Amino acid sequence: MAPSSFPRRRTSDPLHQAIRDQISTSSTKTKSSTLSISPTFILLLFLTIWCTSTLLSSSFHICISSPKLDLYCISGGLSHPPLPPNTSNPITLNHIDDNISKFIVMNNSTEETERGNAYKIVRERLNIIRSWASDGPTAGKSCDGRRIFVYDLPPKFNRDLLSQCNNLLPWTNLCNYFVNEGKGERISNLGPSFYRTHQYSLELIFHSRILKHPCRVLEPNNAKLFYVPFYGGLDILRWHFSNVSVETKDMLGLELVQWLEAQNSWTKNGGRDHMFVLGKISWDFRRREGDSWGSNFLMMDEMKAPYKFLIERQPWEVRDVGIPHPTHFHPKGDSDVVEWQNKIGWSGRKNLVTFAGAARPEQVESIRSLLIENCVANSDDCRFLNCSSGACSTPDKLIMSFTDSEFCLQPPGDSPTRKSVFDSLISGCIPVLFDPFTAYYQYPWHLPEDHRKYSVFIDKEEVRHGKVDVVERLKSVGYEERKEMRRFIVYELMPGLVYGDSSSEFVRFRDAFGVVMDNMMDLVTKGVR
Ligand SMILES: *[C@@H]1O[C@H](CO)[C@@H](O)[C@H](O)[C@H]1NC(C)=O
Ligand SMILES: *[C@@H]1O[C@H](CO)[C@@H](O)[C@H](O)[C@H]1NC(C)=O
Ligand SMILES: *[C@@H]1O[C@H](CO)[C@@H](O)[C@H](O)[C@H]1NC(C)=O
Ligand SMILES: *[C@@H]1O[C@H](CO)[C@@H](O)[C@H](O)[C@H]1NC(C)=O
Ligand SMILES: *[C@@H]1O[C@H](CO)[C@@H](O)[C@H](O)[C@H]1NC(C)=O
Ligand SMILES: *[C@@H]1O[C@H](CO)[C@@H](O)[C@H](O)[C@H]1NC(C)=O
Repeated sequence: MAPSSFPRRRTSDPLHQAIRDQISTSSTKTKSSTLSISPTFILLLFLTIWCTSTLLSSSFHICISSPKLDLYCISGGLSHPPLPPNTSNPITLNHIDDNISKFIVMNNSTEETERGNAYKIVRERLNIIRSWASDGPTAGKSCDGRRIFVYDLPPKFNRDLLSQCNNLLPWTNLCNYFVNEGKGERISNLGPSFYRTHQYSLELIFHSRILKHPCRVLEPNNAKLFYVPFYGGLDILRWHFSNVSVETKDMLGLELVQWLEAQNSWTKNGGRDHMFVLGKISWDFRRREGDSWGSNFLMMDEMKAPYKFLIERQPWEVRDVGIPHPTHFHPKGDSDVVEWQNKIGWSGRKNLVTFAGAARPEQVESIRSLLIENCVANSDDCRFLNCSSGACSTPDKLIMSFTDSEFCLQPPGDSPTRKSVFDSLISGCIPVLFDPFTAYYQYPWHLPEDHRKYSVFIDKEEVRHGKVDVVERLKSVGYEERKEMRRFIVYELMPGLVYGDSSSEFVRFRDAFGVVMDNMMDLVTKGVR
């Protein structure tokens, strides 16, 4: 395996690197921070993964997202620099995040000030996406003028990929994760609607669900909104760890675009009324010039117009919308949600803090080791689940320890977002975030702008510079404040963060799928933007 055929390491902090790249696109300075990866290391890592994991579930995240491997291209903003914000149409920013910007601009250097401005632009873009949200649930509204068409694609774009479940990844078999319409196998001891759901299953879950949408029509001429069920995440997953050319990686996406170009429903509005759900992070589809990681699917001109829903968005693209990572909970209706709320809402929590994760010794900038040290040193208040030694491989145990904790530490991994943020919210455990890109700058339709309602923010720079004792800081959060955050998470936020069963029907609640579809249907009826 030639090292050059594998992704190169750029930085352990891709978003910040992306911001730096973005603000220095005009500068001629070239950075040479890339290192090649030793094939021996990769082999060892595969073996380690092979031996230590009861693979997938949550430990999967850590395994596949290993810092040496999951270094995707980070430069979506580079070859297609985003437009400057429309200054003639100023967006009101709220001031909750001023502290985050202030911290970035500590030294008042030009670069820091520019980085602070880059953050501000990200927040402006998010507010644009927020402004597209529908006024409220559209359930019960007539489907007139809001009909949805779901393409019946040639099977190579979706079903054939599922049938390769045994070959998508070199060291494991994903077939059991694709059963039950992508929810995976049942987990009986948490409740009736829990499954061993894989973190990259969103494409299947969403597809099964939209096929049963009450406003779906079988005739494209009657539709306003078009859903393209391309399993692009599974497509790129199968190439991540194999030595193939970039042309091979790009092929299926290119074929899909060619297929769409032959459809009147696509050409009529140039794709602007089309939506995609891609179950991986945006950078996996935005390969950088000269890199080999990922595909160029979202870099194609044809892919600019449609709306793309991803578990991690490209911060400058308004048509990249972040939606929750799938969790293990797939309620069938209101009563499943209420039952779970009753279980976790006011349960006594034995631990103040839990950190489930693995260290990232190879990443000098990672704060994980510092958090682990801090946690272990405060073992009366903090529980460390060592994912490197298999402690996180059973989702039921992991979820139970989250339901038993007041706070769950969620430092960035190899990319800023973490599925674990959603596991902790589903469990009523208040997430402690260290980087605004982990959640605040990702999910404009599912998480409120005021992040103080559901999380505690501690800047990772403060941790890195030893300016804060995380456990002590969390101890100082008052009882009433914790209670209010938990109430908000469990009773207001949680129902909208889960993906219901494909047969689910909600009256009182609206799940994550319902939020996306209501907003999209509203958006297209108001006129395509
Ligand atoms: C990867 O593919 C290239 C081009 O086919 C080939 O030259 C190289 O030897 C391959 N590397 C490995 C490790 O198979
Ligand atoms: C910018 O805002 C102005 C005024 O609202 C509007 O006329 C114009 O079309 C906007 N431009 C873009 C690129 O959105
Ligand atoms: C910003 O931080 C200061 C000091 O930590 C705090 O007193 C203030 O309330 C914070 N402002 C906001 C808007 O959160
Ligand atoms: C501020 O930036 C300058 C120039 O980059 C550097 O020499 C100095 O150490 C920095 N100061 C702090 C407090 O980080
Ligand atoms: C940062 O520098 C600018 C000018 O270079 C100055 O006007 C401003 O007051 C400085 N801000 C801080 C917080 O030092
Ligand atoms: C976590 O597990 C790994 C692998 O077993 C081990 O090397 C490491 O020391 C453990 N960390 C802690 C803090 O116990």
